[in-house]
Amino acid sequence: MKTIIVSLLKERYPEFVSGEELSKIINTSRTAVWKHIRNLRENGYEIESYPKLGYRLLHTPDKLFDHELAQVLKTQVLGRTIVYREKIGSTNELAKEIARTGSPKGTLVVAEEQTEGKGRMGRFWHSPGGRGLWFSLILRPAISPADASKITLVTAVGVAKAIRELTGIKAGIKWPNDILIDGRKTAGILTEINAELDRINYLIVGIGINVSLRAEGVPELAQIATSLEEHSGSPVSRIRLLSMILENLDSLYQRFETGDFLTILEDWKKMSVTLNHMVKVTSLRDTDEGIAVDIDVDGALLIRKNDGTIKRVYSGEVTLR
Ligand code: BTN
Repeated sequence: MKTIIVSLLKERYPEFVSGEELSKIINTSRTAVWKHIRNLRENGYEIESYPKLGYRLLHTPDKLFDHELAQVLKTQVLGRTIVYREKIGSTNELAKEIARTGSPKGTLVVAEEQTEGKGRMGRFWHSPGGRGLWFSLILRPAISPADASKITLVTAVGVAKAIRELTGIKAGIKWPNDILIDGRKTAGILTEINAELDRINYLIVGIGINVSLRAEGVPELAQIATSLEEHSGSPVSRIRLLSMILENLDSLYQRFETGDFLTILEDWKKMSVTLNHMVKVTSLRDTDEGIAVDIDVDGALLIRKNDGTIKRVYSGEVTLR
């Protein structure tokens, strides 16, 4: 209903749409139409109304409402089912919960604010209301659990490309999952899986992007993080960025599932800020230093250590030296 009302009001602007016409189109009473309008106003839509003219939409709030996203999204799989929350603990946690009970692949869980946003390595992910994109996707890829980490690399390509396309900012990828702008972190990806030995039941890709987060309010972020708006100095539409990311990922995931990882990896390499740099990689077991020389077909990072040997790293935290 909301989708129909909002899209009709947008389409007709600057004309008014009468209550009678709206009630006919959505096949309901004029009182019901009025209730929908009241609800939209409560959600931040500015709608003027005059008894003889009807309704006219003056302002759409900067929110990621499912009915707004559904209007602009051109995807085949991702975001065909949308779960929207104003405030939530973590979109990854809700995504896991609903994946367990059968939510279809491609389901998008998106929130304006997360109170318990999760980063990698058990870190807290700052996710204040309206200041970024905090969302998770439910995927059910027919791949072995050993290949799940490749999804993180594929996702990083889709996110970095969308940021470049929309804002012109040269976002780079730090292996495996950070999106950096001039050395500062702007976005991160947290991939979690539920799997058996040989098959994935579901995989959750959680993506967090600082769009207008003010790092100065968060001392531990001030030196290491930035936001798209801080960097570009101009406003960035969250809904446009989200739909571009989903459209990129929609086709990248399809290509990945049909075996096209290597060409995606080429794009990853072009946007990499890790390759050809001195790095320190800390993994669960050890720490290695050397030059990041390549990434292999499994998505592992290859480091040439000072003694000339090549170390293959499958997971870990990279510090650029
Ligand atoms: C990282 O440490 O770089 C990964 C950060 C991932 C944050 C996103 S925000 C949406 C989703 N929900 C979470 O709780 N975390 C991810």
